[in-house]
Amino acid sequence: MDKKASLTLPDGKTLEFPVMSGTIGPDVVDIRTLYGKSGYFTYDPGFLSTASCNSTITYIDGDAGVLLYRGYPIEQLAQHCDFLEVCYLLLNGELPSPAQKKDFDGIVMRHTMVHDQLNRFFTGFRRDAHPMAVMVGVVGALSAFYHDALDISDPHHRTVSAFRLIAKLPTIVAMAYKYNIGQPFVYPRNDLSYSANFMRMMFAVPSEDYVVNPVLVRALDRIFILHADHEQNASTSTVRLSGSSGANPFACIAAGIACLWGPAHGGANEACLQMLEEIGDVSKVGEFIRKVKDKNAGVRLMGFGHRVYKNHDPRAKLMRETCHEVLGELGLANDRLFKLAIALEKIALEDDYFVSRKLYPNVDFYSGIVQRALGIPVSMFTCIFSLARTVGWIAQWQEMISDPEYKIGRPRQLYKGAARREVKPIAQR
Ligand code: CMC
Repeated sequence: MDKKASLTLPDGKTLEFPVMSGTIGPDVVDIRTLYGKSGYFTYDPGFLSTASCNSTITYIDGDAGVLLYRGYPIEQLAQHCDFLEVCYLLLNGELPSPAQKKDFDGIVMRHTMVHDQLNRFFTGFRRDAHPMAVMVGVVGALSAFYHDALDISDPHHRTVSAFRLIAKLPTIVAMAYKYNIGQPFVYPRNDLSYSANFMRMMFAVPSEDYVVNPVLVRALDRIFILHADHEQNASTSTVRLSGSSGANPFACIAAGIACLWGPAHGGANEACLQMLEEIGDVSKVGEFIRKVKDKNAGVRLMGFGHRVYKNHDPRAKLMRETCHEVLGELGLANDRLFKLAIALEKIALEDDYFVSRKLYPNVDFYSGIVQRALGIPVSMFTCIFSLARTVGWIAQWQEMISDPEYKIGRPRQLYKGAARREVKPIAQR
């Protein structure tokens, strides 16, 4: 039987709205006709109770600490798959067969080089620019280089752009890093895996051979998997909203990168590591936690808390394991910041302030320490996140464009400014 929800308005009139069910997760009340029927808008700043679209890609149960990509638990994907398998899954809805995986990997790896003219584009930036500023500019500029496949109504064009973005982001991130430190760009090597090639482009120099460490490559690959998609978060919603106007995919992903840069979103792992550096020592943890609990101090425990996860962030647990693996491999088990992070986590998990507000470590709490151990500088952390999230953004963008219900996104507002008034010429003011 069709479910309905009813709403009684201040004038006593009652309206009925259909209730829609997903595969799993809360039902939603379809209020699209509310304004037409009543003249009322709904008010939900921050989208605390709003499903902005329907999607088949990622499911999160924040209370149970569950994250599924296309129905598969993140823990199993992190254990059994590599990043490109997860990309295939997110884009196509199913895990690839061995033959499909070989084809897919081959196509991605053949798109890794960027137009050579793009090298010059980098030199327009100051060397000390934040790499995320460079990323926003360079990724946005890709539409000026690859305009042969920008017809978003053509599924083939969309697929070509998707491959280009997934393949070229590692090259662009590595170029942003090399430019920043004044080293020559390292061209991709397509016989390496996606993550091994990225590490080589980041760390190789022409004067020495670079030997890829498989444990570290696997750790980086896992970081990519854990960050690949996260349903309708701020940057993904930004990509969808930008794309809803028909903007090209490179512009939309650049908008997503800009949104991700913020410290409440992708910038959190950078902020978390800075926080650990500032605390400096296990003996200072108590004092720091006191500041966090003091509302007037305006200090947050970075890497803690999540809008959706109110039990635990399943990605944080996997990242913690990866952290142990990497620090073990590199002989850094006694790393100062890692020990500090463990002490901070323990105290926070037992403190009523955090427990009562359901604040648990999120993925960023450990990902910064892992990346630092891999040799990735703090300022590059959010670039790594953007590289990994590109596949999620592009899968969500593709899903939106192919949806028959797709419309330009156009929220309304509760206007609280001045009522109509008349302009006096300047001499009379
Ligand atoms: N440290 C201290 N107090 C916190 C924290 C924190 N990290 N997070 C939330 N709170 C408190 C907040 O002060 C509020 O307390 P009260 O009810 O007394 O006013 C309560 O918890 C609820 O906070 P909120 O700001 O209403 O929660 P939100 O859902 O709007 O914010 C968040 C979610 C992730 C922005 C926030 O928890 C935060 O700023 N965390 C630190 C930054 C961070 O780690 N971000 C990465 C998110 S995970 C990456 C991703 O998926 O993008």
